[in-house]
Amino acid sequence: MKSNPLLKPVLLFFEDEHESATRIARASSMELATIERHRFPDGEIKLRLPDTLPDRVVILRTLNDPNEKLIELLLAAHTARDLGARHLTLVAPYLAYMRQDIAFHPGEAISQRVVGQFLAGLFDAVITVDPHLHRVATLQEALPVANAIVLSGAPLLADLIAARRQRPLLVGPDEESAQWIALAASRHYFDYAVCRKVRNGDRAVEIALPVRSVAGRQVVLLDDVASTGHTVARAAHLLLDAGATSVDVAVTHALFAGDALQVMLDAGVGEVWSTDCITHSSNAVSMATSLAGALAQIQAAA
Ligand code: R5P
Repeated sequence: MKSNPLLKPVLLFFEDEHESATRIARASSMELATIERHRFPDGEIKLRLPDTLPDRVVILRTLNDPNEKLIELLLAAHTARDLGARHLTLVAPYLAYMRQDIAFHPGEAISQRVVGQFLAGLFDAVITVDPHLHRVATLQEALPVANAIVLSGAPLLADLIAARRQRPLLVGPDEESAQWIALAASRHYFDYAVCRKVRNGDRAVEIALPVRSVAGRQVVLLDDVASTGHTVARAAHLLLDAGATSVDVAVTHALFAGDALQVMLDAGVGEVWSTDCITHSSNAVSMATSLAGALAQIQAAA
């Protein structure tokens, strides 16, 4: 179908992301339109997009609980092209499957590569926040799309921490968090340190605290994501034992599977702050303005 070039770029969203979509649309002055979704009793999904689309279309889908959402993106992206979209951008504030970036054991799927190539086949541009890139330097290596923009929640979380805590000590719960710790600490000249972690299972982690003293300090554990909560819970437990006066948690992505929040609180964590990349009651800062800025960059380059 022929697109209508007179129409402004549109941001398509699914009903469960209505609030995030509204915040991004407000910050970017984009038109908003819903993707209607029906789930059949047997689990298949039917989508319905607006029947007229402009040249440039943006789809918002944050990829926590990703498996069904990846099928939604497959259906939505192909349908948007059929309806005339010539340039498709994915805004996935949380990008799933980035942690399995190598085959840790023979025969394992390298999910990062597989999912990255799948999304690159659907979209011309991708915007995301703090993707878990550890052994891979750039998002485009994992997701080989023409235009990829990576934002970080760390600066906004750092501003929040500066407003809420006196002379905090930022601690990364594992080596992989060093990149976000460095970014947040440099913004407010916070003291910082990074732990070492060995993972023995989904809910079994061993943590070694950094050598610097934490006694009498207000500690904030900062990471890209908490999933089961066991990483930050174990670190919080050790930090409090070592004399920290308080331990709070700041994460970009509140995946918080099952009883994760309770696991953290039971370990003595005081407050838990997150960005709105994944909607959760702990959301304390919004990425909407940064996402709108990235969208403007993509639209200018398209
Ligand atoms: C991995 O290194 C990530 O940065 C997080 O530390 C990890 O995903 C947290 O997982 P969990 O909350 O299940 O311990």
